[in-house]
Amino acid sequence: MLISPRIVDPPFVDRNWRARSGDPLPARLAMDSSDRSTQLTAAAAAETLRWWIEAGVDLALDESPHDRFAESAAPAPRLAPAASAAPSISYEARPAPAAAIAPDDAARSARERAGAAATLDDLRAELERFTGCGLKATATQLVFADGAPGARIMFVGEAPGGDEDRIGRPFVGRAGQLLDRMLAAIALDRTQVYIANVVPWRPPGNRTPTPQETAVCLPFIRRQIALSAPRLLVCLGGSATQTLLGVKEGITRARGVWREYQADDGATIPALPMFHPAYLLRTPAAKRQAWADLRKLKQAAEGLGA
Ligand code: URA
Repeated sequence: MLISPRIVDPPFVDRNWRARSGDPLPARLAMDSSDRSTQLTAAAAAETLRWWIEAGVDLALDESPHDRFAESAAPAPRLAPAASAAPSISYEARPAPAAAIAPDDAARSARERAGAAATLDDLRAELERFTGCGLKATATQLVFADGAPGARIMFVGEAPGGDEDRIGRPFVGRAGQLLDRMLAAIALDRTQVYIANVVPWRPPGNRTPTPQETAVCLPFIRRQIALSAPRLLVCLGGSATQTLLGVKEGITRARGVWREYQADDGATIPALPMFHPAYLLRTPAAKRQAWADLRKLKQAAEGLGA
């Protein structure tokens, strides 16, 4: 979840609200330093931040605060118009959000840039330069790939999470650690597979990428698959399965059945939808089906020969 740093109590919460735990609603952030009754103390700031974090806010939207109330047509009487009156808070520097690009232009630019990449290194460089996906502005960095480019098996997930965003490699958080154990169960490790995501920037708060974000990133992951040229593709979760294989049904029905990924050059790659490791962490009972799918993957990999 995103939040602009200069914000008061969440507007949808009544000031008399009390959390079920009995915690009082945190004090307001001061919007006007001359208003002593609403001056922010360190303790109140800490309490407010804790409240935001518990509510799912984990990212400041912008470096500089926006007073959305003052920006609205009807001025709010208690708000100070001068930005200088805001408490001084420093935020980690982020690239300024790119000017909004029309979706059609972004999609065309993505197709051109992805198509121009002759190698995986080129593709990474093209993604670093690409400004057509708004997620880039809120992500810490590009999360391009991990493992061995050109490996016979490629795994594709949905989008990076917080750990991946911080470290810059896909599947390094809890779900990634489970993926490592799943690989080990069929005698594989990251040196023998290639791993990427449909969307290479973390969506704020780990939300699902929007259809537009996914569509804009699609030419890049398709090019990444083409350039790594795996013999087998594994789609982790419903999002990757639907995006790459055009499957309409949910992952519970789609998993465990070999499909065909259609590459742009007309070639096909056998593709296996599997439960996402994050889902398996939440639903341990589904690990039995995941194990059956892993055995199918192992069998197919052994069938490839040398
Ligand atoms: N979930 C994903 O889909 N990809 C990651 O890289 C991490 C978690």
